[in-house]
Amino acid sequence: MNQSHLEERSDYAVVGGGPAIAAVVDRFYTLVLGDDRLRGYFEGIEMVRLKRHQVALVSQVMGGPVGYAGRDLRAAHEGMNISREDFAAVAGHLVTALTEAGVEPAIIDRVTGAILGTEPDIVGAEAAGA
Ligand code: HEM
Repeated sequence: MNQSHLEERSDYAVVGGGPAIAAVVDRFYTLVLGDDRLRGYFEGIEMVRLKRHQVALVSQVMGGPVGYAGRDLRAAHEGMNISREDFAAVAGHLVTALTEAGVEPAIIDRVTGAILGTEPDIVGAEAAGA
């Protein structure tokens, strides 16, 4: 561990690690469930488990030590008929939650870039093989 190592802290470390990401994800789902366009998708979903997976995914995207071990994103959203507008609304709520938490813009841009890259797996995800 030399001095230069300190300049290479991951985004995960910079934002405050697991507890900070868990707080952002909590706020994110409060915004999502408060959105009339989106709430219906989450009816009957076990939110504790979903939050745990989302924390792991965001942590991984931020270069943290926690890896995402949930379902493949296409399989997880299959058959939900999620529109591009729904996707944009969900992504927007994540940006809001990160912004409210004071996460620096460069990190928000990196996270958003990774999240936007999942759109082909989530919007209109069809049954396996499609
Ligand atoms: C913006 C990008 C998105 C990401 C990165 C994302 C990520 C995830 C992750 C990691 C899971 C957990 C999968 C598992 O439990 O194995 C999940 C589940 C879920 N997502 Fe998303 N999601 C996104 C967008 C959306 C959108 C736009 C909707 C609906 C409007 C949605 C609705 C759901 C629902 C209902 C579940 C629970 C599925 C279940 O447990 O059966 N997601 N998502």
